[in-house]
Amino acid sequence: MKYRNNNFFIENIKAEKIAKKYGTPSYCYSYSKLKNNILNFKKNFKILNPLICFAVKSNPNLYLLKEIKKFGLGADVVSIGELMRALKAGIKPKKIVFSGVGKTEEEIRYAINKKILLINTESESEIKEIEKISKSMSKTIDIGIRLNPNTDAKTLSQISTGKKENKFGIDEKQFLNLVKYIKNSKNLNLKCLSVHIGSQILNHKPYEKMLKVLERVIKKSNFQFEFIDLGGGMGIDYDGSNQKLNLKKYSNAIQKFIKNHNSKIIFEPGRSIIGDTGIMLSKVNYIKKSSRKDFIILDAAMNDLMRPALYNAKHRILPLNKTKQKSKKNYEFVGPICESTDKFLNTNKFQKLNEKDYIIICDVGAYGMSLSSNYNMRPKASEILVNGSKIKIISKRQKLKDLI
Ligand code: LLP
Repeated sequence: MKYRNNNFFIENIKAEKIAKKYGTPSYCYSYSKLKNNILNFKKNFKILNPLICFAVKSNPNLYLLKEIKKFGLGADVVSIGELMRALKAGIKPKKIVFSGVGKTEEEIRYAINKKILLINTESESEIKEIEKISKSMSKTIDIGIRLNPNTDAKTLSQISTGKKENKFGIDEKQFLNLVKYIKNSKNLNLKCLSVHIGSQILNHKPYEKMLKVLERVIKKSNFQFEFIDLGGGMGIDYDGSNQKLNLKKYSNAIQKFIKNHNSKIIFEPGRSIIGDTGIMLSKVNYIKKSSRKDFIILDAAMNDLMRPALYNAKHRILPLNKTKQKSKKNYEFVGPICESTDKFLNTNKFQKLNEKDYIIICDVGAYGMSLSSNYNMRPKASEILVNGSKIKIISKRQKLKDLI
């Protein structure tokens, strides 16, 4: 995805062509970028021969899941809906792990019936519930326990999950007691220790700390885990500063750790696979002038892309066609929704925009469409995949009539 002669291209397609033909706001993904990300991830961790379970929550588009599956990836799911989607995409049950703090009886039964690889449990109550259900079905179920390693992931507090004040996982003491309990259970088979300390992690150090905790806990548990599921969280470069997680360093740390254990590594990456494959195309509907700044009122809003409103996350915005004329005013890019947090970015460095111009919001492939809603009764945007010179609508723009 880059400019050619000042026009933004997604692979061989001029983005303007897509905006004009298919309308805005639209999510637009690059197939080659997706392929490169998967191959790069695999290359960096090759020596570990891990099972890579794509975190479906980051982008559950069925067509994309089918493409991801073709590279041999499995799925990390957190609801019956995601599990059904993953299965519909053709992902083999034995490559699916089920995470989440509040799985219902219906979800547990469904997962058991589908014979997925692992249910990663997050509380004593959940473990007892799974035991009860599997007993009633006369089965023995493979499970993991998610450890809360009390490790600071040094990321946004809203997407941090590995500290003791977070609802996720089970603390060391309880973990060790539960290992003992499960050892004696007829209907539970403990196979995995899982962990996930947070998302958008840019430095490998928190992961190193987490591995040290794992080392200690595994030793104390005196248990041979068939799988160690290290979760996801690998951060990407949102601000163009080239700061992203060094996968090689993380891989080296895991190699050192795994030497002492005869376990298979599982990863659950979402953002690092799909995040920078997608952009959002949007049109400037109005420019509202005010004394300090101009409001650039887009046709995309917080319902289409929640991250800025929810986490104050910054996504770069670029013009679709570059000109040399600089804006003299500060711009605030906003949506039309009746909320003050419905804004994307403030900038004093942008080219002069006119009404009806198009812009691009960058790196929205992960937690973009998946967090979208119909707030303000706005139909969901379309999703488009570009592969070389081919354009494919992979999710149609929601019709107003279906919404009303
Ligand atoms: N595994 C588990 C158990 C998770 O909870 C998550 C993300 C992942 C894997 C995938 O993490 P990733 O590789 O994508 O960082 N909506 C937020 C992110 C929330 C992440 C939730 N869990 C955002 O837009 O930044």
